[in-house]
Amino acid sequence: MITLGIESSCDETGLALYCSENGLLAHTLFSQIDLHALYGGVVPELASRDHIKRLVPLTREVCAMAGIDLSQIDHVAYTRGPGLAGALLAGSMMARSVAWSLGIPALGVHHLEGHLLAPMLEDNPPSFPFVCLLVSGGHTQLIQVRGLGDYTLMGESIDDAAGEAFDKTAKMMGMGYPGGAALSRLGESGDASAVKLPRPMMDRPNLDFSFSGLKTAAITRWKAFEGSESERPGFTADLAASFELAVIDVLVGKSVKALQQSGLSTLVISGGVSANRTLRARADALEARGELKAFYPRLEFCTDNGAMIALAGSRRLMLGECDDLSVTVMPRWPLEDLPSLSTSLSN
Ligand code: KG4
Ligand code: ZN
Repeated sequence: MITLGIESSCDETGLALYCSENGLLAHTLFSQIDLHALYGGVVPELASRDHIKRLVPLTREVCAMAGIDLSQIDHVAYTRGPGLAGALLAGSMMARSVAWSLGIPALGVHHLEGHLLAPMLEDNPPSFPFVCLLVSGGHTQLIQVRGLGDYTLMGESIDDAAGEAFDKTAKMMGMGYPGGAALSRLGESGDASAVKLPRPMMDRPNLDFSFSGLKTAAITRWKAFEGSESERPGFTADLAASFELAVIDVLVGKSVKALQQSGLSTLVISGGVSANRTLRARADALEARGELKAFYPRLEFCTDNGAMIALAGSRRLMLGECDDLSVTVMPRWPLEDLPSLSTSLSN
């Protein structure tokens, strides 16, 4: 059975075709980053308009890539939330219209469920149960995953998400928006022990995070440095490396604690920040020492994409879940509110 997946929760229009028997058939994406970079952040109205512009051509493109006709699809899955209301509406209207015109079922998917199942697009997928470190521009959460829809939130950021802290720090350091990846690249040539920064909430027994103070500490160090570039030529790279290491120390430290508390040994890392090389290297090093088994998606499926929505939707649609004809988006939507289907799931 072939599922068309549509992602439009923020600033990426992602389309994919996923086959329940053969896996991912094709996927394509248009990123609006250049459009929003001019304004230093995502402008919701511009995002919605651009999704509307891209959805039909990208749908044609993904079908051509897979060599199938739209009439051959069996289901449509789209991101229902969380995200920007207008952006979500653009994708969900497209999805519902395609489904209605073909007389096939459609299902609104939780964006974070898409992220946490994204490693299942790979050849060596994780098996349930696992702990997921879901770390993106809007969320930093540790989730105990027992099966499809069977999720318990173990901890989350009480202020900025990790990706948000990366982006805000990068912006202050003149790296444009979103600067998380650029800050990480710059840090590769720096000394991560050069600038002393805090590891917020590390010594607390709970699994919550806080990145706002760390971001402010880094920005304060940057402001004190600005204008004295000639005296400390490597400082920018040192600060980037030190900030990155502080964030990764906390993310990894809390993930290990979450595994210990849940008695599980599999850690899935997903969401945009899971593209971070230092984070992946730290997880790999723990795996090499036999402390855990780490899984993360390939780089292009760390950030928002249609493939993860097609896969998550396919799993649920194949178990008979589908929506009625109404179009409801959920800009705010706790992951734990999703219906559990784990009893009928064979992973
Ligand atoms: O999952 P995503 O595409 O969008 C949300 O659902 O939020 O994540 C985007 C976030 C941005 O904050 C971006 O700066 C961050 O992921 N990001 C990174 C890296 N690549 C993307 N942060 C740190 N290091 C990276 N290599
Ligand atoms: Zn996302």
